[in-house]
Amino acid sequence: MADRILVLDAGTTSTRAMIFAPDGTMEAVEQAEITQYYPQPGWVEHDAAEIWDKTLTCARQVVGEAPGRIAAIGITNQRETVVAWNRTSGAPLARAIVWQDRRTAAFCADMKSYGHEESVQQRTGLLLDPYFSGTKMRWLLDHDEAVRAASERGDLAFGTVESWLVYKLSGGAHVSDASNASRTLLLSLDGAQFDEELCELFGVPRAALPEVVDTHGAIATAQSQCLGAEIPICGLAGDQQAATIGQGCLAFGETKATYGTGAFVLTNKGQDIPRSDNRLLGTVLYQEGGQRTYAIEGACFVAGSLVQYLRDQLGLIGSAAETEELARSIESSGEVVIVPALAGLGAPHWQPEARGVISGLSFASGRAQIARAALEAMAHQTHDLASAFAADGAPWSTLRIDGGMSANDWMAQDLADILDIAVERPDFVETTALGAAILAAVGAGVHPTLGAAADAMRRKGRCFTPDMSEDVREARLARYARALAAA
Ligand code: G3P
Repeated sequence: MADRILVLDAGTTSTRAMIFAPDGTMEAVEQAEITQYYPQPGWVEHDAAEIWDKTLTCARQVVGEAPGRIAAIGITNQRETVVAWNRTSGAPLARAIVWQDRRTAAFCADMKSYGHEESVQQRTGLLLDPYFSGTKMRWLLDHDEAVRAASERGDLAFGTVESWLVYKLSGGAHVSDASNASRTLLLSLDGAQFDEELCELFGVPRAALPEVVDTHGAIATAQSQCLGAEIPICGLAGDQQAATIGQGCLAFGETKATYGTGAFVLTNKGQDIPRSDNRLLGTVLYQEGGQRTYAIEGACFVAGSLVQYLRDQLGLIGSAAETEELARSIESSGEVVIVPALAGLGAPHWQPEARGVISGLSFASGRAQIARAALEAMAHQTHDLASAFAADGAPWSTLRIDGGMSANDWMAQDLADILDIAVERPDFVETTALGAAILAAVGAGVHPTLGAAADAMRRKGRCFTPDMSEDVREARLARYARALAAA
């Protein structure tokens, strides 16, 4: 019987394909790295053809000769990254502009100076920051001849990564799910489809955009030449929304934090459109039969990428895992504080021009102090978000963590200590993929509801409880606040 779910998880640094059983067991996984292009400081690009080729290769490897057992495909993806392709030939027209890319900072500053931010935030839940897709689409239209010409001919298709993969798998369906669409600046949180006025404001032709669809249900069908059989695509969601579902945050107020390339915290806000007075984002968590459930989000651009930077650029550590040992080898980081603003500052500060800081260095500061300060920075950034969420009337009672960095026990304990709440970590930390599997399982009827699917497919894990004195916590937070001012 066909009851397995094929998940495609097209992330920033790698793309993966996985097979899930209906009880949430991951039965197979294949992964391929994605080439990062940095053509200028602050620019980050991907090759959309490479994303497609490698995703398909991984999918073929896990499906093997048995496509008949796959009930449905679930896709989850790095969000906001923009792909432009020719809708007739299916060929990419330009390199994809990645979410981390800051090239539209000046355009955003101009839009702010014309006084657009308040109404844009009111309608989309987002802020005027280069992070979001709409400004990247506008940049391509302004600067890329092939994109402009395709637009004039009526041949241009824009999409985020899930949209691109569905188009390729299905041989032409041009759709985007509401969770991804809500990251573009072009979707009003209460509008079913992309908004004509917002498209005009950002100078993006609505005709080039996909149809906005539910996050789960009968979305499209993968053609048989892709995987050896026609397979329905039944789940689509941005990776952070998928992780929220994979963590079972299906009730109002439940919160997860994912520590991957960046750190992303989402709190389920139910069916009323969330409004933030503290520079957090309102976003679609999932959409079922046109009915939306929303989340409030805090996005920090640098998390695991800070550890990568210490390893690859500074050569201070040999592997990410070494940071735990180094952090435990000393009593404290001394005066050393890191503000990881290497790609500007995201929520709640939103300063694209801010830059990273290592402060408090003395001759006593070695590798261990710097590695420990890097891990401490995760708790400090998360604490900044916790304050903004609380000020917005969405305090966290516990925090469910996941993502590659969450495997670090020292960091998980430090989070509990600095936030002063319990931090829960599931044994299976691939919550993004699990969330996509849950969505597709419900979309395909393998499980009846998201709640039932989450109950059947999730596993419990370990809980870290706070164990730090108030004065140590206060001193840490005060030192971080001083360093932040310098960033
Ligand atoms: O918004 C960007 C986010 O979706 C990227 O996630 O997991 O690739 O760091 P990740």
